This record gives sequence, structure tokens and C-alpha cells, in this order.
Amino acid sequence: MVRPYAVKWLKGKRKRGAASGAAAAEDAEEEHDEQVEVVEEQEVEEKKRRGEELAAAAAASVPDDRRGTEEGPLEALPGLPIVATQDRRPKQGVIFILERASLRVGRVGKKEHILSADDDANYLKNKGENPAEFRPDIVHQAMLAILDSPLNKAGRLQALYVKTDDGELIDVKPYVRLPRTFKRFCGLMYQLKTQKSIHATGKREKLFRMIKNPVTKHLPVNSRKIGFSYSSEKLVRLQDYIPAVGDDVTLVFVVGAMAHGKIDSDYTDDLISVSNYPLSAACCISRICNVLEQRWNIL
Ligand SMILES: C[S@@+](CC[C@H](N)C(=O)[O-])C[C@H]1O[C@@H](n2cnc3c(N)ncnc32)[C@H](O)[C@@H]1O
Repeated sequence: MVRPYAVKWLKGKRKRGAASGAAAAEDAEEEHDEQVEVVEEQEVEEKKRRGEELAAAAAASVPDDRRGTEEGPLEALPGLPIVATQDRRPKQGVIFILERASLRVGRVGKKEHILSADDDANYLKNKGENPAEFRPDIVHQAMLAILDSPLNKAGRLQALYVKTDDGELIDVKPYVRLPRTFKRFCGLMYQLKTQKSIHATGKREKLFRMIKNPVTKHLPVNSRKIGFSYSSEKLVRLQDYIPAVGDDVTLVFVVGAMAHGKIDSDYTDDLISVSNYPLSAACCISRICNVLEQRWNIL
């Protein structure tokens, strides 16, 4: 079993030293460590000046209680990191609901953890369960597709709810930075399932929390709930469908985070298919995000 997320993160932070922005720099390196640029001295100076201007503008747009300190930016908060670069000014936004997410806890041997088809197939078969139904990896990929999207970074994700296949409902704050690796993701989800909420150490705000069902209770009154299923007979081009809905409603996208079966469409206003092919949840979400990013000119 993995250590609790906050503990691991702090340990990593201590090792790296308390240099400001260390976490953010590491992330950037992760993504771009192959790209080494040689820049003329003059250009460096110019970039530095522009960077300082942008940083000052960004700091001014962030509410006081969310700003970083001189010691370090927001990513340096102890506990769960959050995405500091996100623009959080209110704009027309969208909501995602992930349906039938498999995040079930089981005790295999002496240890409890989130059960998965890959690691616990024998245990699940012995219990008479179908391993194919235990796919936390689909939930991880789907959440990354939503939270890492430019759409979210531009502040257009209003809320993310995850409905688990054992009847729980999770509220995920859009500015949380999800663990990149599956193992750490499962460690975090285990913490959430057992403790019912997760917040940045020393902060009251809960970044993940279990909330009461039904999910519809948490949606705005003027929301349009659009369910996604390959098996729907209503095949649409998302580029045409979304503008036709209009700007006066909050779009709620309901996507399945399971391997097989259909989403619960009892509460959706529509059930659409967006491709002639069965897509993964992450691919389906990327399609939705791409259309919205083009519509709102998010590059
Ligand atoms: C791995 S699929 C689940 C497979 C399931 N047989 C289905 O089609 O609903 C995960 C989710 O992606 C979405 N999805 C996959 N292909 C799609 C398509 N062609 N059109 C709309 N949504 C799709 C659905 O929400 C689905 O629940």
C-alpha cells in the first residue's frame, strides 16, 4: 500500500529543499525535460522582464486568500498541491459528472487498498467478482483528461463530481492537482474513501469530499444534463450540438468511467453518441473539452 499522499508529497518537498516554486518547476521539467533551448542573452533579459510583468498581473487576479507568499507560490502549500496558474475568475463554465467510477476498497492479505483488475484479479475471482468491473485506472485517466485540460486551466470547469459504483458521490475541486501516477492516485482515493475528505494541510478547504446524493441536488437549476453513450441512437457532431444548446444554460456532461455497460441516464436531458466508434472515457472527455476550447477561443 502507498503512503498517504500529503506525507509523500511533503517528504519529496523536503528533499528538494524549500526553494520557491520547486514543485511547479519540477512539473514543467517533467513535461519538457527533453527540450533544451539556447537563448541569446538579450532575449533572456527580455523574457525575464515580461515574466515579472505577467507574474504581477496573475497575482493581482487571484483572490487574497489564494495568493502565494514570498516563501513560495501556491504550489508550495503543504498537503495537496493545487494548480496555481489557473484563472479562477467566474465565467460561463461547465460541469462534468463521471458515472459508475470503480473505487472500491478491499483487504487483500493484511493490507487494504483500492481494488483493481490488474493487481487483484485472483482475489476478486475468489470472491466471485468480475475483475473487469474494477477499473480505477479508467477513473484516473478520465479525471486527468478533465483536470489537465486547457478548458479547466482557463477557469471554465465549474465542478467535477464522481459517482462511484458503490453509491458514493465525490466533489472534486477543479484546481486540485491530481497525482500523475496510478499508484499515487489509488493511495489518494483510498485516503478519501476511508477519511471522507482530503484537504491541503493547515487549510480548511476540502479539495476532495464525499457529498450527499443525488448529484442533481448540487447542479444549477438551469443546467442541461447531457449523457454520453456509444449505444445511443442519437449520433451527433459535438461541434454542432453544443452551440445549438445555447449559452443561457450550464452544460453538464455525464460520461461513464467504467469499462462496460451504460451510464445512469435517468436524470439526463439527452443521451448522445459522438462517434461511430466506442471511445475510452478519456478520449470522449477530450473531444468535449476540445469543442468547448474552440468555442471559447482557449488555446
Ligand atoms: C469505456 S466507455 C464505456 C463503454 C460502454 N459500453 C458505453 O459505450 O457506454 C466509457 C464512456 O465513454 C463514453 N463514450 C464512449 N464512446 C462513446 C461514443 N461513441 N459516444 C458517446 N459517448 C461515448 C460513454 O459515456 C461511456 O460510458
